[in-house]
Amino acid sequence: MRDITADNITEAVQQAWGNAPDPRLRHVLQRLTHHVHAFVREVGLTHEEWLSTIDFLWHAGQISDDKRNEFALLSDVMGVTSLVDLLNATPGATIGSVLGPFYSDDSPTVPFGADLVKDNEGTTVLVTGVVRDTAGKPIPGAIVDMWQTDAKGEYATQDAAQDDENLRCKQECDDEGRYAFTTVEPAPYTIPMDGPVGAVVAAAGRSPWRPSHFHFIVKAERHKPIVTEIFFAHDKFVDNDAVFGVRDPLVRKLDAMRDDDGPSGLERRPDKRLDFDFTLVPLQGNA
Ligand SMILES: [Fe+2]
Repeated sequence: MRDITADNITEAVQQAWGNAPDPRLRHVLQRLTHHVHAFVREVGLTHEEWLSTIDFLWHAGQISDDKRNEFALLSDVMGVTSLVDLLNATPGATIGSVLGPFYSDDSPTVPFGADLVKDNEGTTVLVTGVVRDTAGKPIPGAIVDMWQTDAKGEYATQDAAQDDENLRCKQECDDEGRYAFTTVEPAPYTIPMDGPVGAVVAAAGRSPWRPSHFHFIVKAERHKPIVTEIFFAHDKFVDNDAVFGVRDPLVRKLDAMRDDDGPSGLERRPDKRLDFDFTLVPLQGNA
């Protein structure tokens, strides 16, 4: 098209994508063009604003490395990460929540009832539960993979002062599908504020805080794995998560430990306890 105008440019760009051989790629690029152009028109984007947006994206690339992805953080604070999670939720399974940037696949495998507290300070918590399928049947051998911050709000994978394997573990559920470990209560933390995403969050006067949480990946053979988080009702940030990860079924109270509480043989008597059962959906063809 030779005579490009403000009226025909959207159609021209959509046509330029029109020969993409993959129909899904073609559809996504054409609809992205439609919405981006509509946005530019609606807000009346100025040349200066466009330049600062390009500059923002350039800086997001500059600050990203193999440990930090500023674009993932942008997706998080825009709610896109959670929206994709929610739209792709598996009916019947425990609802998912964001993976976040601090997961590492190499957590130590620990036995049922393990004590993760070690040198960590803070409120001790017994965390227990059962992994079941959608029929309510326990899944022996399911793997519960957990990672969390210490009481200062830092993960072992980001804090050189912590042992590399601190406060993260994989545990195989017992014959009744149960898992149990003792740990410390995690703490709230802020998203990274030293990059371009943090600058926008600050300029907008938004809270950078995430409420304290345990992260979990739960998986079992012939079942669809889940990635989720557990939050605490008493946390002051639970209604204002900077990355929109909180879901009502994932918010729990930390109960005081009773004398007769918990599995036998625990190495210590924790201050609090949390019980959370997970539900996994069997993969099709394996009912
Ligand atoms: Fe986290």
